[in-house]
Amino acid sequence: MYVCLCNGISDKKIRQAVRQYHPQSFQQLRKFMPIGNQCGKCVRAVRELMEDELLQIPEFKEIA
Ligand code: FES
Repeated sequence: MYVCLCNGISDKKIRQAVRQYHPQSFQQLRKFMPIGNQCGKCVRAVRELMEDELLQIPEFKEIA
C-alpha cells in the first residue's frame, strides 16, 4: 500500500528502510528516502509506521 503518494513510497519500503537504517527520528528517515517533502499528508502515517517497525526490532524492544 502506498503511504506517500507524492513520491510513490509504500509501507513496505518504509519498513525496509527502518529495519536497515534504524532512524531515531522522522528527520533521519528522510535522509534515506524522499518522504513527506511535498504535500506532507503522509507524515503522521509514516511516523506511526516507523514507530511500529522500530518496536519490532529486538534491540529497540529492550529500550522501549
Ligand atoms: S503524500 Fe507524502 S508528501 Fe505528499
